[in-house]
Amino acid sequence: MIRSVIRSTGRYVPERRVTNHELTDILDTTDEWVTQRTGIEARYWVEEGDDSGTSDLALNAAKIALERADWQPEELDLIVFSTMTPDVNVPGSGVFLQDKLGAKNVPALDIRQQCTGFLHGLEICDAYIRSGKATKILLVGAEYQSRYLELTAANRDTAVIFGDGAGVVCVEALETQDEVGLITSILHADGRYAQALRFGLPARKSGHITDPAVLENNEHFPYMDGQKVFKLAVTRLPKIIAELLEKANMSIEDIDMFIPHQANLRINDAVRERMKIPADKMYNNIQRYGNTTAATIPIAFDELLEKKLVKSGDHIMFFGLGAGLTWGGLIYKMV
Ligand code: COA
Repeated sequence: MIRSVIRSTGRYVPERRVTNHELTDILDTTDEWVTQRTGIEARYWVEEGDDSGTSDLALNAAKIALERADWQPEELDLIVFSTMTPDVNVPGSGVFLQDKLGAKNVPALDIRQQCTGFLHGLEICDAYIRSGKATKILLVGAEYQSRYLELTAANRDTAVIFGDGAGVVCVEALETQDEVGLITSILHADGRYAQALRFGLPARKSGHITDPAVLENNEHFPYMDGQKVFKLAVTRLPKIIAELLEKANMSIEDIDMFIPHQANLRINDAVRERMKIPADKMYNNIQRYGNTTAATIPIAFDELLEKKLVKSGDHIMFFGLGAGLTWGGLIYKMV
């Protein structure tokens, strides 16, 4: 049987580390508020004036993952690039990365699933691999969110939570009789909440993109109804964990590590308490990175591998919720 396994990982964040203290100079906020309400202590932002794009962040992480897999870029069958902050609106960032890697003629598919981008991406890789259409896929989650943020007190809730970074995994087809790799997945969407977290540009309801009202109404900046998204997260994430466990015929005890998306430490703590998950079985790194959207889960997985906190045979649950509204999870068994 063909299984989809993660052969290697890589991560990259820009050098500039921005602490909460630094933000108090430009936003009407405090280190205490941000730490208590979100868990975030610092995030990485691309240096101002740096000309690189999202695909450059991805390139640095991809080089590491490819080297660890011992793959050449030309060997890839597909690049799946997940981001909500692409280099430019059109074309997608996948083709920029393809060119920078020298992955000549390798198809590049961009997906726009925000905080569940890695979950959707792995599901897509699995479909390609199980159908025999691909054996080597580069799955990327990368975000350059700092250049989209409105650094004013009016938008301090989004300004403090988002960070830049990239996480990349090499997904490979493995012929085996063992039940390893991606075992179970469930993905959901509920478009009724599409307006709760959005960038208004360029799909305006009326008028042209260059309409001065775009700037006047701050439609070029992200908008988030934080409280609404928070409530959706703390109710839907426990349910998705229960759904996944039921589908896989497993219990909380059978999962060795839970890797949630990192939107707010309070959300993850609430989910952990609701589901009675031991604290050492849920990995959080939002304290150091903030919310890096599509890059979050692959960055966390890369860190766990580096710290040797997961090992062969372990069952891992990846899960998350984000703009769309989209939410879901996957159970993965380490080879
Ligand atoms: N610094 C200081 N005060 C801030 C602040 C900041 N960075 N951001 C908001 N506040 C203030 C508000 O103005 C408000 O003040 P008021 O009571 O005088 O009106 C107060 O803090 C409470 O605001 P609220 O929006 O209720 O805060 P919150 O506890 O909901 O926290 C978020 C805001 C964004 C951190 C939180 O709602 C959240 O994490 N939401 C979910 C995000 C998410 O999951 N997104 C999806 C994935 S991207």
